[in-house]
Amino acid sequence: MKVMEIRDKFAVDCLQLVERPDQVPGPGQVVLKMRAFSVNYRDLLVVNGVGRWKPPLGRVPVSDGVGIVVATGNGVSRVKVGDRVAPIFYPNWLDGRVAGGKMGQALGGAAADGVLAEYTLFDDVSLVHVPAHLTDEEAATLPCAGVTAWSAVIALGDIRPGDSVVVLGTGGVSIFALQFARFLGARVIVTSSSDQKLVRAKELGAAEVINYKTDPDWPKAVMELTEDIGADYVVDTVGGLKEAIAAVRLGGTVALVRLLIGVTSEVDLVAFMGKCARVEAVDVGSREMFEAMNKAIAFHAMRPVVDRVFGFSELREALNYLREARHFGKVCLRA
Ligand SMILES: NC(=O)c1ccc[n+]([C@@H]2O[C@H](COP(=O)([O-])OP(=O)(O)OC[C@H]3O[C@@H](n4cnc5c(N)ncnc54)[C@H](OP(=O)(O)O)[C@@H]3O)[C@@H](O)[C@H]2O)c1
Repeated sequence: MKVMEIRDKFAVDCLQLVERPDQVPGPGQVVLKMRAFSVNYRDLLVVNGVGRWKPPLGRVPVSDGVGIVVATGNGVSRVKVGDRVAPIFYPNWLDGRVAGGKMGQALGGAAADGVLAEYTLFDDVSLVHVPAHLTDEEAATLPCAGVTAWSAVIALGDIRPGDSVVVLGTGGVSIFALQFARFLGARVIVTSSSDQKLVRAKELGAAEVINYKTDPDWPKAVMELTEDIGADYVVDTVGGLKEAIAAVRLGGTVALVRLLIGVTSEVDLVAFMGKCARVEAVDVGSREMFEAMNKAIAFHAMRPVVDRVFGFSELREALNYLREARHFGKVCLRA
């Protein structure tokens, strides 16, 4: 079977399709014929061998995909041949709060192969059924970006109808966060570097928009939009943190989702304490959260936003497209 590997060195130009032997399911295991995949900013960090995301050479990249069950081993009870399922991002984090041991083995990273292959092999416990109304590409966007946004907005949040929620940029996690915050009846404020993308954000239900290129002091713009109170909730996918704290209200919450602009941040502790704000880091989520999210997506007939679909062998092109931030929502690959 064909798999994509990071060969020779860490660079998008060193991705190569190679042959590996077919897999046979052991007890509790399942073989999937993969149908579609989606890429995340994290895949760029893995493929380029950055910091703690650096895997050994030969790694199969990409954490997110959806496939059809084509073979099962003894004792498999959660799925059957023909089911359409997605592997979860952290195969050992099935439920409950995060704890030691649950977050090893993240797919397509330092510790485990990902899903960019014709066939993959997983324990049945680390698979979830995906909502029937979604296309394969839409379903493939759920495991990392979808579950992360669900954790940040729903599992962690205490957002009520009418609360103001700021989401930064229009990438995969942020557009999911906008859609989930709309489930709750929140007033969502979206930032972007592009007026065109902001028009699309409004079509998806954003109440207010801010162009952070033409208006770099976006926390001030948030204060103005909220009568100088500040937002109830900020989903910080950028990681500046001090801007998010400046934009949040007294006693509000910042969900820190990651580090688009670096791995350190200088925070004015006096300003932070003056806000009595809560900052909580989010790291994807569990199978339980994934299943709760799927239930809500099915109920609302929600569709993840797929910007563009590349071919199976075009991971390099897909990652370059993502790096250039030309997308709105998610970038996918078709098996
Ligand atoms: N903690 C977790 O569990 C977790 C899970 C998934 C992702 N993440 C992290 O979340 C972040 C977003 O991931 P993603 O996959 O959604 O990325 P993505 O699809 O590549 O989205 C990136 C978008 O962020 C916006 N952006 C970039 N620099 C910005 C800046 N300085 N200020 C404001 N917006 C900026 C841009 O939006 P515009 O083009 O509209 O300007 C860009 O398109 C990454 O840091 C990723 O590592 C964390």
